[in-house]
Amino acid sequence: MTGKKITIHDIKQAKKDHRKLVMVTAYDYPFGLMADEAGVDIVLVGDSLGMVVMGLEGTVGVTMEHMIHHIKAVVRGCKTPLVVGDMPFMSYNTSVREAIINAGRLMKEGGCDVVKLEGGVDFAPTVEAIVKAGIPVQGHIGLTPQTASALGGFKMQGKDAKAAKSIVDDARALEDAGAFSMIIEAVPAPLGEVIAEAVNIPVIGIGAGPNVDGQVLVTHDMIGLFDKFVPKFVKQYTQIRPTIIDAMKAYKQEVTNKTFPAWEHSFNMSDETLAELGKMIQK
Ligand code: KIV
Repeated sequence: MTGKKITIHDIKQAKKDHRKLVMVTAYDYPFGLMADEAGVDIVLVGDSLGMVVMGLEGTVGVTMEHMIHHIKAVVRGCKTPLVVGDMPFMSYNTSVREAIINAGRLMKEGGCDVVKLEGGVDFAPTVEAIVKAGIPVQGHIGLTPQTASALGGFKMQGKDAKAAKSIVDDARALEDAGAFSMIIEAVPAPLGEVIAEAVNIPVIGIGAGPNVDGQVLVTHDMIGLFDKFVPKFVKQYTQIRPTIIDAMKAYKQEVTNKTFPAWEHSFNMSDETLAELGKMIQK
C-alpha cells in the first residue's frame, strides 16, 4: 500500500463516521508488509509476541528490548497503517516517570506511532502523563493478559453488573485521561456495546462482540499459524501451518531423494573453466 499514513485523527474520525476500524498484530517485516498491503487501519506490535513468536507461556517475560526489536521490523513494512507499540509488563507499572521514559523509547528507538498499555482507572494518571509528554496512548481494558492470573486466568471479564460497571469506569477514566482509543478484550457482547456508547473515542474489540467501533485479532491466531490454543473469539480465516509443514516435508523428501536442487536451481560453469580448474587442483 502506498496510501496516506493513517493518523490518530483518522482513527477518531472513523468513530464519528461509523466506519469500523480494522486492526491486526504483526511482529516482523514480512507481516508488516502484508498488513500494509491488506489495507488494515492499525497494526499492533503486541506483547502477544511472547507467546506466538517466542514460545513463552504468557506475556510477562517480554522486555522493552524485545518490543523495540520487533517494532523496528514492523515499522519498516508499514507505510500506511498506524503502528501501535505495546508497553511490556513492568515498563509502566512502577512509576509514572519510568512509564514516560519507556513510552518514549518505544517511539524513538522502535519508531512506532503510538503506544498501548493495559489498565483502566488505576493507570489513568499514567496515561495522562504519557499523553501530556506528547505520546498518544491506546488503552486496553477487560481481560488484560499481563495481569490475567490476578483476574482468574484468561477468562471473560465483566460477568456481573458490578464487574461490568467497573469496566465502564475504566473506559471513562481512559477517555478522561486523554487516550485516543482503547482495546476491550473478552467481555460479553452487550457490555462491549455499552462501553462503545459510553465513550467518544474508538473502542476496538477482541472478544467483545460486533457492536464496538472496530476489531483486532492476533494475526497468528487468525491465520492458523499458532494453534496451541485458539480462544473462542478467534475466527481462523485460513490454516497456514499445515501448508508450511507440507512444504517443509516436500523439501525434505526432495533433498533426501536428490530431486532438489534441479538444474534450474543451480549455477552453471563452462566445460573449459571446469577443465582448467581440474588441471589447477591436480596433485
Ligand atoms: O498483545 C496483543 O497482541 C494484544 C491484543 C490481544 C490486543 O494486546
